[in-house]
Amino acid sequence: MKIEKRYKKKIILNFTINIFKKLNLSRSNANLVAKHLLRADERGVWSHGIVRLPIYTERLEKKVANPRPKLRFKKITNSIYHLFGDNGLGFIIAQNGIEKCVKLAHQNGIGLVAIKNSNHFGMSANYLEYAAKKNCVAWVFTNASKALPPHGAMAAFFGTSPFGFACPTKKKNKPFVLDMASSSVARGKLRFAAQKGIKIPYGYALDKFGKPTNDGLKAFNGIMLPFGGMKGAGLSWMMDIVGGIFTGANHSGKVKNAINDFSGPANVGHLMICLKTNLFQSHSTFLEKIEYGIKKAKKLKKAKGFKTILHPGEPEYNCSIKQKNSILLSKNTIVELQKLASKYGVKSPFND
Ligand SMILES: NC(=O)c1ccc[n+]([C@@H]2O[C@H](COP(=O)([O-])OP(=O)(O)OC[C@H]3O[C@@H](n4cnc5c(N)ncnc54)[C@H](O)[C@@H]3O)[C@@H](O)[C@H]2O)c1
Repeated sequence: MKIEKRYKKKIILNFTINIFKKLNLSRSNANLVAKHLLRADERGVWSHGIVRLPIYTERLEKKVANPRPKLRFKKITNSIYHLFGDNGLGFIIAQNGIEKCVKLAHQNGIGLVAIKNSNHFGMSANYLEYAAKKNCVAWVFTNASKALPPHGAMAAFFGTSPFGFACPTKKKNKPFVLDMASSSVARGKLRFAAQKGIKIPYGYALDKFGKPTNDGLKAFNGIMLPFGGMKGAGLSWMMDIVGGIFTGANHSGKVKNAINDFSGPANVGHLMICLKTNLFQSHSTFLEKIEYGIKKAKKLKKAKGFKTILHPGEPEYNCSIKQKNSILLSKNTIVELQKLASKYGVKSPFND
């Protein structure tokens, strides 16, 4: 089998939907989760794409995630709601949350949805893109299972929790999307480096003795580091406060690891805030100013090694255009998907 193979998106989508249906998700929720996973691959965020399917199926199979959650919104004020996720998959809960949040912003200028009893929701950009395409300025926060130390500590305590911000640009399908983990590198990418024996830059991780390492395997068995030292560590801590403590979800190292802790619900928390772009000026003036900033930035003298200047979200947009019809899957991923096919009795479209 080749190292990587391209498959039509429709084929991967249908396969993923069928797997989730076998695990008792409704057709519409199976479709929602499958589309969000595929969108990550399409944007080149493969660490949060279809490669993670076995993680979510295992949680459903082991009954530590609920395939048929009954989501409940509790009104706090006209523009603030609390969403109880009933331990459903994070994708379903967060998508419902962002739709409500956008609606509240359109009605009241600002919307805030705080979410508890959720699970890992994948790539934040899924929810950020949705809000930006509906003409909102948006922030999406989540906490996550422990992976990073607070500054100065030698033990994982906070999540790689991504900081997420988005707003529309003049190009409707190409919003500004800043979606970044608080670790130096996504843990999925570290695992890949470990498998391949690839060297990683110093500063990404410590080995199990607390020494900086550039060895992927030693890093994977050691401890991940936040980006920017105490700044990334502070952001990850903030995410635990707003995503975990503030929402009523698990926090302070108690969010269960989706991959290896099946002792109960993970109880992840998310916080979403949306603002209408036209609160202080017209929507078109807002867009003109965003466009002005992008154009000016792109004309600046380039640093050594740079041919072009991109805005956050643009590299992923460019990737998604290239992967409009098909997605590249690695050999390892194909093998894992084939295993799922035989485990759940779904016809595999993945051939050697
Ligand atoms: N749900 C969770 O618990 C969880 C935890 C960690 C990470 N994640 C997800 O992992 C994904 C990957 O995170 P990451 O930190 O590895 O992303 P990354 O480092 O690839 O990108 C971070 C940001 O930098 C921007 N960027 C990249 N190259 C750029 C360039 N040349 N010019 C300008 N901007 C550029 C990107 O558009 C993105 O907004 C995210 O989608 C995140 O939501 C999820």
